[in-house]
Amino acid sequence: MKIEGKEYRTIWFENNIVKIIDQTKLPHQFIIKDLKSAKDAINAIKVMEVRGAPLIGATAAYGLVLSIIEKNDQSFLKKTAEDLINSRPTAINLKWAIDRMMNKLSSVNDNKILEIALNEAKEICEEDVKFCESIGLNGLKIIEKIYNKKKDTVNILTHCNAGWLATINWGTATSPIYHAHKKGIPVHVWADETRPRNQGANLTSYELNEEKIPNTIIADNTGGILMQRGEVDLCIVGTDRTLANGDVCNKIGTYLKALAAHDNNVPFYVALPSSTIDWNIKNFKDIPIEERNSKELSHIEGLDDKGKIKKVQIYPTKSKAMNLAFDVTPAKYVTGLITEKGVCEASNDALQKMFK
Ligand code: MRU
Repeated sequence: MKIEGKEYRTIWFENNIVKIIDQTKLPHQFIIKDLKSAKDAINAIKVMEVRGAPLIGATAAYGLVLSIIEKNDQSFLKKTAEDLINSRPTAINLKWAIDRMMNKLSSVNDNKILEIALNEAKEICEEDVKFCESIGLNGLKIIEKIYNKKKDTVNILTHCNAGWLATINWGTATSPIYHAHKKGIPVHVWADETRPRNQGANLTSYELNEEKIPNTIIADNTGGILMQRGEVDLCIVGTDRTLANGDVCNKIGTYLKALAAHDNNVPFYVALPSSTIDWNIKNFKDIPIEERNSKELSHIEGLDDKGKIKKVQIYPTKSKAMNLAFDVTPAKYVTGLITEKGVCEASNDALQKMFK
C-alpha cells in the first residue's frame, strides 16, 4: 500500500539485509530500518518495531535467514528459532512461521541452506499478501451488502491495527475496507485509539490517511455509545490467535467491543489468514497472554510544541499500573470469520470444513 504516494511492503530483503518500516516511529517519522542479525530481528519483534501477527511471523522467518548468514550451523539455527518463538508469546504466527521454516531447514546442512531459507521466507510473505487480498475480496461482499441496503456511507469500527502495517500488504481487517474503497463504495472508519500503544491512532488512522480513506480516531471507550446511536454498521478486527472453536484472541479491549456490538446487534467480524489458527489449544484460558512493561501505560510519546518527539510521564509516580496486551472474545460474540477461503461461522465445524 502507499505512503506519500509510493508503494511499500512492511518487510523486504535486500543485499543480505532485512528492511523494515520502524513502526515505533510512526506516525511522526517514516524510517526504514536495517536488520542485520538474528538478534536485530528478535529485538525488532520485542520492542515492536514490527508488530501484528502476520508481520512478526514473517520477521521471524527472515530472522532465521539472518542467522544462517551469520553462522551456518544447525545448533545456532535451533537456538535462534527458540529465541524468536519466545520473543512475543501471544500471536501463534511466530511459531507457525518458525515451524514451517525449520521443517525445510533442520535436515539441510550444505551450502544450499541459505537459498532454501530465503525462498521460504519470501514465500511466507507472498502467501500472506495473497491471503490478505482474498480476505479483502471475501469481506468486501459483507460491506457491499450493507451498502446496497443502506445506500449511504458504511461506518466500520476497528480496534488496534490489523491493517497492512500488521501484515505484509493489504492487512486483514482493513483489506475489505481497501477493496470497498477501490470499488467506489463510500466507507468511513472509526479507529479505536487502542491504548496504551495507540496502534489505532498511530498506525490504522495513519495508513488509512495515506490511502485517502475517511476515518476518525476515537478514545477506546467511545465505541459503545456510537453503536447505541446507530453510527456503527459493522466491526471488523484482526486476531493474534484463533482457536479451533472460534474463540478469538486479539488486542486488549476487543472483547469489550464485541460485547457492545452484541448488545446493539452490530455485526462483529474477525478477519484472519489461516496462519493465525491454533488447532491445539482447546481452552482459551490456556492462551499465553502477554503482559508488557507498565511504562507503556504510564509514559506517552508525541510531538512537543516545537515539533520535536518527546516522551512524558502521565501517571502519578507512586501508582502501580498493569499492562495486559491481549484478551479473548468468545466465539458466541463473533458474527463470522473472514478468511482467505471465505467467510464462515466462528465454530469448530465451520473451521474444520473450511480448512481441514
Ligand atoms: O501488539 P500488536 O500491535 O502486535 O497487536 C496486534 C493486534 O492485536 C492485531 O489486531 C493482530 O495482530 C492482527 S494483525 C492482522
